[in-house]
Amino acid sequence: MGSLLFVTASLMGDKSQSRQVASDYVAAARTAHPGLKVVERHLTPDNIPHLGMDALAGFGAGADARTPAQTAAVAFADSIIEEVEAADTIVIAVPMYNFSVPSTLKAWLDHVARAGRTFKYSANGPEGQLKGKRVVVVESRGGFYTGDSPAKGMDFQEPYLRAFFGFLGITDVSFVQVEGQAIGPDVAAKGLAAAKTAVTRLAA
Ligand SMILES: Cc1cc2nc3c(=O)[nH]c(=O)nc-3n(C[C@H](O)[C@H](O)[C@H](O)COP(=O)(O)O)c2cc1C
Repeated sequence: MGSLLFVTASLMGDKSQSRQVASDYVAAARTAHPGLKVVERHLTPDNIPHLGMDALAGFGAGADARTPAQTAAVAFADSIIEEVEAADTIVIAVPMYNFSVPSTLKAWLDHVARAGRTFKYSANGPEGQLKGKRVVVVESRGGFYTGDSPAKGMDFQEPYLRAFFGFLGITDVSFVQVEGQAIGPDVAAKGLAAAKTAVTRLAA
């Protein structure tokens, strides 16, 4: 592993549980791979825009034909994709918001999926262009969605991310869940400890 991209999406910043657990993975990777290049992208509502018409129109226009706003939107979108393309491993810390991912992460994903770049349409259908990468997702939840939880069918976080990265050609996707974070202090501590154990095992 030579390059790792660490993406976080919690509104809680440093206090985020998903970020805390994912940071353990990143720290273990740094120890195991001295010289590892780590790029961090901490998503907030202020630093990741929705994919807009300037970007979409800009992708279709030649560089010379773009308006200044389109040029800026394409440059930003390119910077997001370049970080992904440069990484061997992508670590994502993501809380569950309303049964899915925060809108900041959705906006980031909307920038990552680009026809003709990260996926292509061929005679055989869509073909992901990001093959060979590894994705590790640490997903935190207030409740429980794994095992035989009755809420299992309401988890639109993990199946969505698995499908998304699979579409881009990434099949090595691991998930670590930090569950029960809104149930009470004891349950939350147990969920955090279990996730830390799981992530240490994954990093080994
Ligand atoms: C806006 C918002 C929406 C949430 N929606 C859900 C939800 O649908 N299901 C759930 O189990 N927990 C939900 N939670 C709780 C968080 O997923 C939980 O507290 C998680 O541990 C937060 O992770 P973080 O510390 O990394 O931010 C929500 C929290 C917030 C702030």
